[in-house]
Amino acid sequence: MLLIKNIGLLATPQGNTVRCGAAQGEIKEYRNASVLVDDRGMIAAIAENGELPEGSDNAEVLDVGGALVTPGLVDAHTHLVFGGWRAHEVPLKIAGASYLDILNAGGGILNTLVNTRKMTEDELFDRSLGFLDEEFNFGVTTVEVKSGYGLNKEAELKQLRVIRRLNDGAKQDVVSTFLGAHAIPDEFKGRADDYIDYLIDEVLPTVCEEKLADFCDVFTESSVFNVEQSRKLLLAAQKMGLPSKIHADEIDPLGGSELAGEIGAVSAEHLIATKDSGIEAMARSKTVACLLPQTSLYLGKPFARARDMITAGVPVAIATDFNPGSCPSLNLQLSMNLGYLRYRLYPEEILTAVTLNAACAIGMGEKVGSAEIGKQADFVIWNTDELPMLFYRMGSNQAKTIIKKGKIYEAH
Ligand code: NIG
Ligand code: FE
Repeated sequence: MLLIKNIGLLATPQGNTVRCGAAQGEIKEYRNASVLVDDRGMIAAIAENGELPEGSDNAEVLDVGGALVTPGLVDAHTHLVFGGWRAHEVPLKIAGASYLDILNAGGGILNTLVNTRKMTEDELFDRSLGFLDEEFNFGVTTVEVKSGYGLNKEAELKQLRVIRRLNDGAKQDVVSTFLGAHAIPDEFKGRADDYIDYLIDEVLPTVCEEKLADFCDVFTESSVFNVEQSRKLLLAAQKMGLPSKIHADEIDPLGGSELAGEIGAVSAEHLIATKDSGIEAMARSKTVACLLPQTSLYLGKPFARARDMITAGVPVAIATDFNPGSCPSLNLQLSMNLGYLRYRLYPEEILTAVTLNAACAIGMGEKVGSAEIGKQADFVIWNTDELPMLFYRMGSNQAKTIIKKGKIYEAH
């Protein structure tokens, strides 16, 4: 047993399902609180007002000195298994090339593909484990990771196997998403329909048989995959048991968010250019809008319409998008700052966006994302005693101690 005591403020959303509209900003606040964690690393009891939970007499004690404590952060969108970097693209962008210009010239994702195919499974595993370690230090205790830099059967399966191994090897829980439809590889240049058929007929069946993925995602974008191709892939994956995610409206509003609503996608991601019709569709299906503000910053694009989405009743999550092209950052706290300053969300809404709603976006809402009895004891003990400080201070790591399933780690 572990007793976490002398918590100045324990701030947490509540429930196992998405919070939307006004409920996104409703946070339970326990003052002068303590939490009892059982030997399986689950939350056994929560007490407030200076009281200690029953049964805490013989527990190991962690006195957090009046700090703010929140649930462990959840990063619901990363591409963290890849080879190489793409620093050489930044001067091209400064000179005026766009993200799609670089991709269409054979760079971008296709450049990372070459470097990812070259690496062995073990090399990719070691590198990705390092990224997860770095991210843990920022207070991120659950992470979603996508494939999508292999773009043929062998290399996609290699990436997915790495992701599954990370779930055992890393401190975090790791959720796996199949993103074979991330770009059109050279072997299928000009034949996007054939590539979608190849994924459905040749790759997805093995992904499902070997249980290598929890979700199927697609990059619905100009000069990548159109709405019809995306629908075909995602419905085929749903039939094989994989729920849907969509990279939608990142650059052009092709109809990806409308498709997310139509097929009941669990989440739609990016949504930088989303139109009213997309917001309405996602509100009807309660699709989580997984927003990636560091990508807007890095691509020099507008920031998603987070307030309009919340007002319309769309549950909003905020994540990093860590990848070598549009967001080489593992610092989810920086996404939280941008959620405050650029999405103009309130601290309570952002807390929900990086905990419970993010957990629900990756099918983990029953296990993590809030501090409640029966959920995993995943917490961040912060270097402050006030919630708004998390969003106001910028650039420093404000996590002091991270607890994952009851195990204590000091941030460094
Ligand atoms: O989420 N948009 C597509 N995928 C990534 C970028 C991947 C890359 O550029 O390597 C994203 O922004
Ligand atoms: Fe992405």
